[in-house]
Amino acid sequence: MTAIRDYVEQNKERYLRSLIDFVKIQSVSADPKRANEVRRAGQWTADILKNIGFENVGLKETGGHPAVYGEWLKAGTDKPTILCYGHTDVQPEDPMEKWTTPPFDPVVKNGNLYGRGADDNKGQCLTQLFGLEALMKLDGKLPVNVKVFLEGEEEGGTGATEKFVFDNAKLLACDAVAISDTAWHSAEMPTIVTSLRGMAYLEVIVRGPSRDLHSGVYGGKVQNPLNAMGKIIAKIQDENGVVQIPGFYDDVVPLSDKEKAEFRAVGDEDEWLKKDLGVKALWGEKGYTTLERNWGRPSCDVHGIWGGYAGKGTKTVIAAEGGFKISSRIVANQDPEKIAKLYEEYLKKICPPGVTLEIKVLHLAYPMMVPIDSPFLEAAATAFEKGFGKRARMVREGASIPITAAFLRALKAPSIMVGYGLNSDNIHSPDECFPLDHLYNGIVTNYHLYHEFARVKK
Ligand code: BES
Ligand code: MN
Repeated sequence: MTAIRDYVEQNKERYLRSLIDFVKIQSVSADPKRANEVRRAGQWTADILKNIGFENVGLKETGGHPAVYGEWLKAGTDKPTILCYGHTDVQPEDPMEKWTTPPFDPVVKNGNLYGRGADDNKGQCLTQLFGLEALMKLDGKLPVNVKVFLEGEEEGGTGATEKFVFDNAKLLACDAVAISDTAWHSAEMPTIVTSLRGMAYLEVIVRGPSRDLHSGVYGGKVQNPLNAMGKIIAKIQDENGVVQIPGFYDDVVPLSDKEKAEFRAVGDEDEWLKKDLGVKALWGEKGYTTLERNWGRPSCDVHGIWGGYAGKGTKTVIAAEGGFKISSRIVANQDPEKIAKLYEEYLKKICPPGVTLEIKVLHLAYPMMVPIDSPFLEAAATAFEKGFGKRARMVREGASIPITAAFLRALKAPSIMVGYGLNSDNIHSPDECFPLDHLYNGIVTNYHLYHEFARVKK
């Protein structure tokens, strides 16, 4: 028990240096110009796996960004096989000017490492890799068979890695998946995530006149594409937070009274949340609590709007076109393809006269729910207790890790999500950070995690 603590204590500086090197790689999967950086991040983790003693380590071409694979399968056929998953890509750093320190030149401050990907997912990914390394160093072997599979396009996917999972189900076959890519419910409440939402993400371009126009000469003569865009967006969700797209809620599994009671038991964080986010009121679909909305109901959010003049001062113009990005997080049993189709049909129907729409579906992801009776979940709770001295609670999550649905469907394997992030880590935002004590205790926890997995009967 203390051997692992001592070992981690002695290696803290090396872990931190590694995380700094990892964050320096600009593996932004959404940016085609940096595709080579994504590849470099994959190679960087492959080198770690080779050093630990993994076999058949290498990059796997997927058609999109490459994935990393490596295996250590000498624990015996009576032991479970665990697929360790993480992602080496990161979200874009934009908006650059809001960062206090440079996104790809990480800095240690107040016990955190600051930089893009410090939490999501580079720091958390290293809790897994260094957990496995500690097992090899201290025990000379792993207690279970382990396949490591790291994705290079979780944050901005083409779907190619998910297809790779279906096409290579034999290679990736396993009893459970171990993932450190989630956040605790609060700094005091470690959590194991048992359900993730899916997503349908679209881009809509609104086109009007063939060129930009003088708003005095032409105002009142044509439909302004930006006015039209406002009308369109206003018709998607009503003032009670109910999405107006016909059929949108048809497949949603209603929350049972038991589930609602479980959510309530996690505690009401509304007052704290309002303060933390600097808002006077929380808002969402009427008739549901904050957690019910976030964990068990679909959402609708506009992510970006562009078009026309947004510079200093005034410019009297009617822009020829504008556009917006919008997505819905979806829940069981909604199908992302069907939801995207419903969006398209509805948007075309409500499109005002005088403008046309071009609709692109940018990203689809299935929702996912872990079978709650999986013995691997209980093993994870024990590992948390050993690593952090606290009992972890089973909770759901409003965010998505799209590939977990593929693991469940293609490999029949539940994803056991032991994450070490905090909601204050600013993931996807400027000043992303990861607490260093979570890096170190995460490594300790994952060391125990694989030992606990070894006790699960095959
Ligand atoms: N690690 C996150 C998901 C997450 C965040 C889980 C916080 C729990 C708490 C993951 O990398 C992520 O951001 N996923 C994207 C997927 C999307 C691009 C399809 C997300 O949820 O926005
Ligand atoms: Mn992310």
